[in-house]
Amino acid sequence: MAPVLSRQSTRYSAHGLHEYRGKFNPQIVRAIGNMLGLQPGDTILDPFCGSGTAILEAIHNGWNAVGIDANPLAVQIARAKVAAMHVSPYELSDLTQRVVERLDERFAGVAFDKAFVLRSYGRLAGKEWEVHLPNVEYLRSWFRESVLVQVSAILQEISALPSLDVQLVLKTVLSDILRSVSMQDPGDLRMRRLSSPPENAPAVPLFLSSALSKVDQVLRARARLESIQCGQTVMVGDARRCSGAMGDVANPSRFSAVVTSPPYATALPYIDTQRFSLLLFGHVRSDELREQERRMIGTREMQASEREALDQGMTGAKKGLPQECISFCGTLRAALNNSTDGFRRQNTPALVYKYLRDMADMFGNLGHMLDPGTPFALVVGRNTTTLGGRTYTVNTPELLALVAEDNGFELQETMELDTYPRYDVHQANSIRSETLVILRARGNAC
Ligand SMILES: C[S@@+](CC[C@H](N)C(=O)[O-])C[C@H]1O[C@@H](n2cnc3c(N)ncnc32)[C@H](O)[C@@H]1O
Repeated sequence: MAPVLSRQSTRYSAHGLHEYRGKFNPQIVRAIGNMLGLQPGDTILDPFCGSGTAILEAIHNGWNAVGIDANPLAVQIARAKVAAMHVSPYELSDLTQRVVERLDERFAGVAFDKAFVLRSYGRLAGKEWEVHLPNVEYLRSWFRESVLVQVSAILQEISALPSLDVQLVLKTVLSDILRSVSMQDPGDLRMRRLSSPPENAPAVPLFLSSALSKVDQVLRARARLESIQCGQTVMVGDARRCSGAMGDVANPSRFSAVVTSPPYATALPYIDTQRFSLLLFGHVRSDELREQERRMIGTREMQASEREALDQGMTGAKKGLPQECISFCGTLRAALNNSTDGFRRQNTPALVYKYLRDMADMFGNLGHMLDPGTPFALVVGRNTTTLGGRTYTVNTPELLALVAEDNGFELQETMELDTYPRYDVHQANSIRSETLVILRARGNAC
């Protein structure tokens, strides 16, 4: 039986393992499953799976699932949730306890409010503590050395465990506390250093209490679930061109439904805000961060030359989008005021155009893989942008429905969701409601 949910409960089971900006509500996934009549044994695809909310709800409901995301940290988090639900609960509990005891022992009597003295490093984390930290030179500029010593000790204890599943769960718990023990200003979404950061931070105590409570949440959900028969696969990939790379799992008749929440136009800077974890777990090098961000759909990163090419694309003969979408981008462009709209705002029309082109590629790519009639449910919100002193609404649900209809899907219905705010997605320029768009594949699109 699936765990019982309260309306506000978004962190039950393994959902709370790691925060993720833009994570959608588990209850929405379940409601979509009910509407589409999904049954245990069915298979869903989430091509923007992020931290794996839909994938974990699939486990709760007995569905198989395939998740794809371009952000390697998102894939790590989603895989950790899958691992938490499939590993033996006894192993998860025992090995977590083992890490707690060993770290308690190593750090017994240590004061975390002062920098550690150099000669204690060896006792706390071994003489070679730095070799356990990928990208350590970069991390040094954002973490006190005393914190890095603690992180190294935590990682060493986790890596010594005999279960890769438990390692993944605990590494992901560590990832979740990382920003809070760095020198980053916690109130700022962008990278900004605290003006006077403390000389140390309690990474070990924070990790231990977090691991114990999160593993406990998982174990309580596991106790209420019958044995889990379904299977889930999560991989790093690009939703615009993943069909080839999906190999065996891309068998067209395999998917009963697509259930997803795509990025918004001018989306959150997923890579930038998660750079510490991406670097610590060796997913990227520091010189790859910018390029990685630029590859994301909805990115705000854009060079002047790219903007010029996109502006030309918008007005050229081969626009690649429905006329309504082109007209909307044209309206935004006409609204620009060169003297009052700064560099970022000047990019907005081209960014919206690029976003819609990318989403068109995604629909075209996935349309090929789905049987005729397969439902594609997506949840997305509107946002506003101010150009030339006027505020415009970017009606993303409506624009995406038009793009989908042009790329192998039919619109079945759209529904306003009376929803509560998603984690961290609602910034000043977003509207606090979201829309569920249900499409149906025409089959063998384009
Ligand atoms: C709104 S979030 C999804 C959140 C997810 N539903 C969850 O519960 O965590 C959108 C996701 O799209 C991903 N994304 C952006 N561009 C992508 C691409 N080209 N291919 C696949 N995923 C991409 C981002 O990394 C982000 O995780």
